[in-house]
Formats: sequence, C-alpha cells, structure tokens
Amino acid sequence: MQILHVSAECYPMAKAGGLADVVGALPKYQNKIGHHAQVVMPMYKTNFLQKNLWDVVHKGAISFGGSNLEFTIIKERSNGLGFNLYCVDIYGLLDREKIYGYDDDNQRFLAFQLAVVEWISNWQQKPEVVHVHDYHAGLIPFFMRHCYDYRNLSNIRTVLTIHNAQYQGWMDWAFTKFFPAWDNWKAGLIEWNSQINPLAAAIKCADKVNTVSPTYMKELMYNANGLETLFEYEKGKCSGIINGIDYEVWNPETDPFISDNFNSDNIQQKENNKIKLCKDFGFDVEMPLIIFIGRLVGEKAADLLAEAISRAFEQTNKKFNVLILGSGEFHIEQQLKNMHERWLGYYHSRFEYNEQLSHQMYAGSDFLLMPSRVEPCGLNQLYALRYGTIPIVRRTGGLNDTVVDVGDNGYGICFNNATIDDIVYSVHRAIHLYQNKPLIEIVRKKMMTINNSWEKSAQDYIDLYHSIYR
Ligand code: GLC
Repeated sequence: MQILHVSAECYPMAKAGGLADVVGALPKYQNKIGHHAQVVMPMYKTNFLQKNLWDVVHKGAISFGGSNLEFTIIKERSNGLGFNLYCVDIYGLLDREKIYGYDDDNQRFLAFQLAVVEWISNWQQKPEVVHVHDYHAGLIPFFMRHCYDYRNLSNIRTVLTIHNAQYQGWMDWAFTKFFPAWDNWKAGLIEWNSQINPLAAAIKCADKVNTVSPTYMKELMYNANGLETLFEYEKGKCSGIINGIDYEVWNPETDPFISDNFNSDNIQQKENNKIKLCKDFGFDVEMPLIIFIGRLVGEKAADLLAEAISRAFEQTNKKFNVLILGSGEFHIEQQLKNMHERWLGYYHSRFEYNEQLSHQMYAGSDFLLMPSRVEPCGLNQLYALRYGTIPIVRRTGGLNDTVVDVGDNGYGICFNNATIDDIVYSVHRAIHLYQNKPLIEIVRKKMMTINNSWEKSAQDYIDLYHSIYR
C-alpha cells in the first residue's frame, strides 16, 4: 500500500513529544512489512535539517487569504530513516526554530496542510491512504473531500490518529478566508461549539479514527475536552491501536547513549549504568532510584510530584532517590526546583529536553513514575520496560493497557487515582519491592522479554486501512 503520513512532528527531525517518536517509527515498520509509507511535515530550522542533505522535489503555490503563497517540498537525501521524509518549506511561516508556540500557529499549520494537499493533487500516482496525526493535520480530510480544487483527491482513504485529544486547534470563523472554495452549507463538518475545530473536523471527515490505546478510546466517550458526544456519535468508525516503540532506537544492547550495554541475560550490567548515573547526581547507589521523565504539566500530574515526593521522603526517612527530567509550566518547575536544597543528595531535577540523558535514566534507574491524569498511550513506560526499569503508573489510557501490577503476576506498580496519597503509597510499595532482590530479578527479566515493538501495531494499521471500502 502507498501511505502518506502527515504530522507536525517526526523524530529525529523535530520532536516535542511522543507524537514524533510514533511518526518516526511506524512508517519504517510499515515499510519493513512490504508497504510504501512516507512522511511529510513542516520544515523547521532544526539540527537535523542542518546536518542532512536535501533535494528539492516540488515547487508550488497556494492561494492563502487572497495572496499567493509559494512553497517548496524538500526530501531528505540519504533515506537512512527507513522511509522518505519530506518537509514543506514556506518562507517566513514554517522555517522557524520551534515547532509550536507562535502567535500565528493557526496560519502556519493551515498553510502547511494546504501545501500538502496541493502537492498531493499533483502526484501522478496518488497515495492510497493519507494518514493524518493530531489536529495540526486535522483539516486535510475535509480539504480532500470537500474543496472543489481537490476533487481529484476525494476518493483517497483518510485515517486520523489521535495522540492527544486535549489539543484541538480551535480557530475563529474568520480563518475560513484561508480555505480554498467549498460549499458553505458544509460548515457543520468543521464546526464544534461555534468555532472551527480541526480535530473535530477530522473525526467527522476521516474514514477511520483511532487513538493510541484501546482504554483511551473508551475514556474519550466521557472525557474528551468537550468532544465527548462527538466520539459517542462517531464510535462506529473509532478504535484503539496501541503504540509500539522503535526497537532499534530503544535497545539497551546497542544503545550508544549509555555507558554499559545490557540485555535480559546480563541485567547485572544495568547496575553499572546506575553507578554512573548516581555518581553524576550525587546519589547513594544502594538506594532505589525513582525517575520521572516528561512534560511538567497537569496532564502528566507533574503538579503533584513535589508534594508527593516530599511526603514520601518524610515518611520513609529518605529511603530512596529521585531524578526528574522535563520542562513545562513555570510554577511546577519552581516547585520542583525548590526541593533541591531541602532534599540535597536525594533529589535532583533538570528542566530541559535531553534525549541522551533520558536514555541514561531509563538504563540506570530502578523505577519510572507516571501518575498521569491523561495518557493516550505513553511511550516512557514502554522504554522503561525494555530497560528493566519498573514502571509505577496510574491506571489510565495506555498505561492501563501496557502495565500489569506485580500483585497480578506482572511487572509494574499500578494505582487508581492521580492523588498525592496514591503516589506516596506506591513509592512505599516500590521501596518494599526493591528490598526483595530475587523478585526484582524475576520481574526485570519478565518485562525485558515482553515484545512492545511496532511489528504488530504496524500491521494493525494496515488492517485498518484495508477495512475502509468505498
Ligand atoms: C502523546 C500522548 C502520549 C502518546 C504519544 C504518542 O504525546 O500524550 O500518551 O504516547 O502522543 O502517541
């Protein structure tokens, strides 16, 4: 099958979160099983852009709010990623350092989507499936099916994958001035609560919709940031497909970022990674090391960390260490920073995005904490499992689908509520488990041999594409 993925992020070109990891891996695995999957994304000024060679493959223009906007499609030359990577360059709009966070993000992603649609309409042999990810690409199914200029795309199958339904890309109606001509009586297809809602538009217009875990799909029926009734209404075409992880990038046996490589047969080597990590941060290596990696936002329950960790330190008389890596809301960073002095030698946090350090943390720690309020899939618990690091997770979304409690013969510590009490209680359980060395060994071995690679889910997506008949 010929598949074109459209996304705002793709690792290693540009990453803000798990979306990039998925779009950087799924196409590669689809190609491995005999399909032809490619990716198109905006061209940002990232290190990857500068370090690689690119060919110009297409030049075109869109009419954008009355003016003519030129765009260029460039293609990464080496094809070392396992799929063709195309970027849309629009001078002045997309060629910036950051992915998100500009005042004109709405215009930026609109122009990106229109350029993609315009480009595909010029392909001799069209893709069979256009697979859009999250709201940044959410208007594409509508444009393809309902704009006069793109009638030649109206038979192509479209699939929407929702990585996070919290963000929907809301826009004022005035933005329709950027749209190519369409029948105004179809306004209902792009509208939700009196605004243009690109995520809702994709849910309405795509042939199939999936979220990145089955549990998250169920949760969206009653908790979807305003879209609950839409999910209920469209549930016939919705499903959940769990994410895999890239076993080439996340492999403790070959990982170039870590000091001592290991696998499930020589897990003792993991200890050397811990020794190094503890030395770097001034921790006692004999104590259990708990890490948190992720965006410091309410969705991930990062606001509970400072209080929960302090309470657990008090109750256990500092029987563990904590290392946090991530960035996010200012007041949460502040809370976490304030803990440095109080728990010196037991606690540290780094407020940055650091791919290398994250690998070293998965390799060198004992537990990974994920108390998320919302977690569509979660990849970090899957990385942790692969690196023999026991996940401590709240039973929600993909965490619920991928982690089984040790009490149920599994390999994790699970709790029900995103509350300080539940987190503290789980830390107690972790410390207790850590003291049982033989059990820890068994649990680690078990988790490292689970297969969470993309192989199965890549095929599930192909089956999803095949299930669309028109
Ligand atoms: C988003 C979600 C996360 C998911 C990732 C990839 O970042 O928050 O749970 O794993 O997308 O699908």
